Amino acid sequence: MTVTYKLEAGGALKGRLRVPGDKSISHRSIMLGSIAEGVTQIGGFLEGEDAIATMNVFRALGVRIDGPNHGNVTVHGVGMRGLKAPGTILDCGNSGTSMRLLCGLLAGQNFDCELTGDASLCRRPMKRVAEPLGKMRAEIVTADGGRPPLKIMGIANLHGIDYPLPIASAQVKSALLLAGLYARGTTCVTEPAPTRDHTERMLAAFGHPVERNGSRVCVTGGGKLTATKIEVPADISSAAFFMVGASIAPGSDLTLEHVGVNPTRSGVIDILRLMGANIELLNQRQAGGEPVADIRVRHAELKGIEIPVQLVPLAIDEFPALFVAAANAHGVTKLRGAVELRVKESDRIAVMADGLQALGVVAEPTADGMRIVGGKYGGGTVASHADHRIAMAFAIAALRAGAPITITDCANVATSFPGFVELARSAGLKITTW
Ligand code: S3P
Repeated sequence: MTVTYKLEAGGALKGRLRVPGDKSISHRSIMLGSIAEGVTQIGGFLEGEDAIATMNVFRALGVRIDGPNHGNVTVHGVGMRGLKAPGTILDCGNSGTSMRLLCGLLAGQNFDCELTGDASLCRRPMKRVAEPLGKMRAEIVTADGGRPPLKIMGIANLHGIDYPLPIASAQVKSALLLAGLYARGTTCVTEPAPTRDHTERMLAAFGHPVERNGSRVCVTGGGKLTATKIEVPADISSAAFFMVGASIAPGSDLTLEHVGVNPTRSGVIDILRLMGANIELLNQRQAGGEPVADIRVRHAELKGIEIPVQLVPLAIDEFPALFVAAANAHGVTKLRGAVELRVKESDRIAVMADGLQALGVVAEPTADGMRIVGGKYGGGTVASHADHRIAMAFAIAALRAGAPITITDCANVATSFPGFVELARSAGLKITTW
C-alpha cells in the first residue's frame, strides 16, 4: 500500500498530546522479558511495525506474548535457555534495531536461524555486529557486502571480549552485551562517545548486574534475568517532530506528555535550545528506571548554529527534524561528524538535502553532514524514500512553507509512529493522506 501525505502550508501547533511509546525501549522490553524468568508486564508499548516485528520474532522463538492491547503487553519469559529453534525465517521488517540486537542475542543459542528484512533493511550494514560477535566466536554469515539476510549458527560456547567500539552505536554495544549474557567470562564494550543506554538500564531493572566505568560497560555471562514491570515512556524521537514544529510555527504552544528524557537521548533538546528554542521540561520524574518529563514548547525565533559534534550520537535519529529547524532559522547551520546518517533507513543526508532543495532551501550535503541556510521556502513534492522520519520531517516543514507540500511513500511512518496523521492534525497540522 502506498501512502502520500498532502499538507497545506501554515498553521500552529497547540494543546497537549502524548506521542507513542519509545521504540528502543519497546524492542528491549520484549527481548529481555522473553529471556527472563517469570511474567513481565509492559505498559506504554509502541504498537508500531518495528516493535511488532520484534514481538513476532520472539513468538516464532517459542515465547508466549499477549497483546499489544492499548500499549499493554504480557511476556511469559522462558528463561535464558528457553528459546526454541524457529520453524521459519525471522523477519525484522524495516527494523535495524531488531536485527542487530537479535544477532547478539541469538548468537549464543543452541540452534541456528536466519534473519531477513525489507528492501531498506537488506541494504544496511551488518558487519558492524557480525565482526565483533565473530571475535566472541559467534558464527554469523552475511549476504554480499556484509548485508542481510543473515544466517546465525548457534554456538553454545561464546567467549567474552573486550571491545573498543569503532563507531558510536548503541545497537552494536547492545548486541555485544546481549551476546555477553551467554558468553563465558566478561564482555566489555568501550564507547568512543556516549550512546543510548537503555539496554544497560533495563538489564539492571531485570536484576542483571552491569558494570559501568566511564565509557566502558561490562556484563558477565552465566547470570539470569528476573521478570519485572516496564513502563515505556513516550518516544523523544517522535516528540522531536512536534518540538521542531512548535518552535518554527508562530503562535504555537504545545505540551508533549510523559516523554523519555534520558540524557543519552535528549541531544535534540540541547541542540534546539542552542538554536534559541523555548523548551521547558515540566514535572520531571522517573518511570521504570528512565527519566521522563512533560515538554512544553513555544514558538521562538531560531538562529543557525554549528552543531556540537559531541551531541550528534545523542540526537542521531532527530536530524531529519533538526534540518527542518535549520531551514527555518536565521543564518547558517552546519552539521559534521554525522556520517552514520548515511546508513539509516535511507541515506538521510542525501534524501533530506534533495527534499529541502526541492522546496527551495539552500541545503548543501557534505560527506558527514550538511550546511543549511535558513530562510523562506516554498512548496512542492518531496520523496521520503520510504523513510518514516523523512516523511514526518517534511510534514512539519509545511508549517512554514509558502505553498502546499506533497510527500510520497509515507506508509513506513507506521514503523515508529502509528497514528501520526491524526495526532498531528489534532495539534494543528493541515495534513491529509491519499
Ligand atoms: C537504536 C540505536 C541507534 C538509532 C536507532 C535505534 C537502538 O542506532 O539510530 O534508531 O535502539 O539501539 P545506532 O546505534 O546504530 O546509531
